[in-house]
Amino acid sequence: MTDDFTPRPEDHFSFGLWTIGWQGVDPFGVATREPMDPAYAVEKLAELGAWGVTFHDDDLVPFGAAETERANRIASFRKALDSTGLVVPMATTNLFTHPVFKDGALTANDRDIRRFALRKVLRNIDLAAELGAQTYVLWGGREGAESPVAMDVRAALDRYAEALNILCAYVREQGYDIRFALEPKPNEPRGDILLPTIGHAIAFIGELEDSDRVGLNPEVGHEQMAGMSVVHGYAQALWHGKLFHLDLNGQNGPRYDQDLRFGNGDVKSAFLLVDLLEHGGYHGPRHFDFKPARTEDESGVWASAAACMRNYLILAAKSRAFRADDEVAAALADSRVPELSVPTLAAGESIADLRAEELDIAEAASRGAHAEKLDQLALEYLFGTR
Ligand code: GCO
Ligand code: MN
Ligand code: MN
Repeated sequence: MTDDFTPRPEDHFSFGLWTIGWQGVDPFGVATREPMDPAYAVEKLAELGAWGVTFHDDDLVPFGAAETERANRIASFRKALDSTGLVVPMATTNLFTHPVFKDGALTANDRDIRRFALRKVLRNIDLAAELGAQTYVLWGGREGAESPVAMDVRAALDRYAEALNILCAYVREQGYDIRFALEPKPNEPRGDILLPTIGHAIAFIGELEDSDRVGLNPEVGHEQMAGMSVVHGYAQALWHGKLFHLDLNGQNGPRYDQDLRFGNGDVKSAFLLVDLLEHGGYHGPRHFDFKPARTEDESGVWASAAACMRNYLILAAKSRAFRADDEVAAALADSRVPELSVPTLAAGESIADLRAEELDIAEAASRGAHAEKLDQLALEYLFGTR
């Protein structure tokens, strides 16, 4: 079936190899699906209309594989990329699966482990650059603790910053066209993870030597796990010029990391996020980080991957229609939404001018926000009744 919601490469949809390749291992059960060959995943993604594929080093080459095996696996992946035209916009490092990282990687108390982690990242950055990736993600899943007694948070942040300063300097020296994107998450697998929210990460980035080269890869579900508004968080990241990349998926509020397909979970938040991305100046990849439900066989994996893209396109079409509706424009004006873009002081106005002005306070206090009507219009677009 081909219709307006059929993805095309120009929609810039990408998937992690670890998403469609997830075998369904969870803390309570073993795999429910067979391993997936990366080259096969690339072919299937291309058939579905995706544009890009992303990977952790270990998704492509198993941890500790010999040099020849590594070369063969990379060659087979490259061949699939060349034959399908799929690109690699982003890559990342697995610093969380192997037991050596059980107490952290770049911020482990154990210095030998920190040095090993840094070598692992550097090696995969070389491969990322070779494959043309422009974003390198760092998700610090194990960078945390179950008790703050076991980790000096300030020292850990010193080491995190040191690692990023080293990585930025390396990328600069090599002349790689790569920027780093930090992925916040409040908890899981650690009891508490460093840089738990978009806000924490933005503040941290401001302390780095090459802060222009470091931005964010926020994930929908992670912000909801922290009880935060996804749309506010992404909007603030955009405002700071830090929305380098993103992980789209679904989540139902603060609970374990559900990684539902995009569109499942909080659908209103998904709609308003797509509206923000499409109209708020985000031009990067539309990247999905979801886990096809453990209950599914391979056909369900591809059905859910296709649905991520289709849901995005459906919501984008709804957002366009919403923005083009005259009644919506009137309701926005009625809610004074455009007025917020007018500076509070006019050009050349002085503090004395401001002080000289008087407001009819009773009248101003009596004005309604008219946000309910506006919000209902948005919901009607979402429901399909407009
Ligand atoms: C998670 C994370 C990861 C990262 C991935 C790439 O909660 O498991 O979202 O899936 O996105 O490791 O950095
Ligand atoms: Mn997640
Ligand atoms: Mn993610």
